[in-house]
Amino acid sequence: MSLKKVQLLEEERLDWMAATLDSVSDLVFIADLEDRFLYANPAALLKLGYSIEEMLGRTAVMIMSEDTMKKREEMLSCTLGAPYTWEGEVRNVKKDGSIFTAHLKTALIRDKHGKSIGMVGIERDITEHKVRERLAAIGALAAGLAHEIGNPLASISSVIQLLQRKTQDAYMTQQLQTLITHVHRIHSIIQNVSDFAKKDQPQFMAVDLKFVIENCLQKVCLERNPKRVHIQSHIERQLPRVKAEAEQLSIAFYHIFMNAFDAIANEGYLIVKAHSEKNSVLIDVEDSGCGISREHLKRVFEPFFTTKDIGKGQGLGLSVSYGLIKSFGGDVQMESIVGQGTKIRILLPIYK
Ligand SMILES: Nc1ncnc2c1ncn2[C@@H]1O[C@H](COP(=O)(O)OP(=O)(O)OP(=O)(O)O)[C@@H](O)[C@H]1O
Ligand SMILES: [Mg+2]
Repeated sequence: MSLKKVQLLEEERLDWMAATLDSVSDLVFIADLEDRFLYANPAALLKLGYSIEEMLGRTAVMIMSEDTMKKREEMLSCTLGAPYTWEGEVRNVKKDGSIFTAHLKTALIRDKHGKSIGMVGIERDITEHKVRERLAAIGALAAGLAHEIGNPLASISSVIQLLQRKTQDAYMTQQLQTLITHVHRIHSIIQNVSDFAKKDQPQFMAVDLKFVIENCLQKVCLERNPKRVHIQSHIERQLPRVKAEAEQLSIAFYHIFMNAFDAIANEGYLIVKAHSEKNSVLIDVEDSGCGISREHLKRVFEPFFTTKDIGKGQGLGLSVSYGLIKSFGGDVQMESIVGQGTKIRILLPIYK
């Protein structure tokens, strides 16, 4: 192609620039020197939930969280004066009130005579990145702890078992049994914690999802036997194999199914569907349990977040599942309505 062909005319250039801003997935904001919005690209509008009309003329305060507001003066003075740019982490408030963390970089805009005419801010949502960072740090800590606690626990357990065999006393037997129950509980916490920590280096293989799901459902049914949970599974025929680690994938589903059972008080349903789409397999897990409030929904993937009574839940299940699924290159999304139930969508890459 000749140079002439690839050069754009002035008006074409403007069209291209506008189309570029409209196409990028980063959030782009343009404001005047008083920090009033003149433009927000579609990615920004979609993320924030506002229409362009709602944003035009308003200052960036409308999307700043309280803690980000404290940085506002610094952002403005750095952008409007030397070094004519500000870069850092901000927390934005969407129209629905939810908050996301973003990395923002600003710059002063000058016209062709060098006169300052406005400011541009480009930002990228880093919420997930932050969660991952935190999970990785907790994982490393957890692995160390699990190791340190595991060994003494094993000897406590064998001493208890020894005493159990020796004693004839009913009261003593009962007390020792209580101890054993606690030891098992600590053991299961350690197990979860190390599953959580292990997720970093999965050995990928082609996994038969139908087999994993059905096995897992069976296991959960056995453990939560008395409940009347009607299970339906609709798994696409010839479902492609997914790229994962079978045992770890099974742990991920186990925690998700257990939660569904726990959420159902007496009777209810659990529906598991799986189908493939492009390069992924989508698994939908739907239960008719108690549901999760919006407040809690934001925190369910956090390690040790639980709404269950002491002794009933450790708050590790979902963070383990989330970490494992993410380590396979997959994703988990959750929707819930209190009193109606919960839908979880899991996405896993197809094994090629
Ligand atoms: N299907 C669900 N229905 C309703 N609430 C759920 C569901 N799944 C998770 N939750 C909520 O999320 C919280 C965290 O779940 P998570 O599996 O991480 O921990 P847990 O179930 O409380 O304890 P653990 O799994 O460690 O025994 C739960 O306490 C519960 O409030
Ligand atoms: Mg759980």
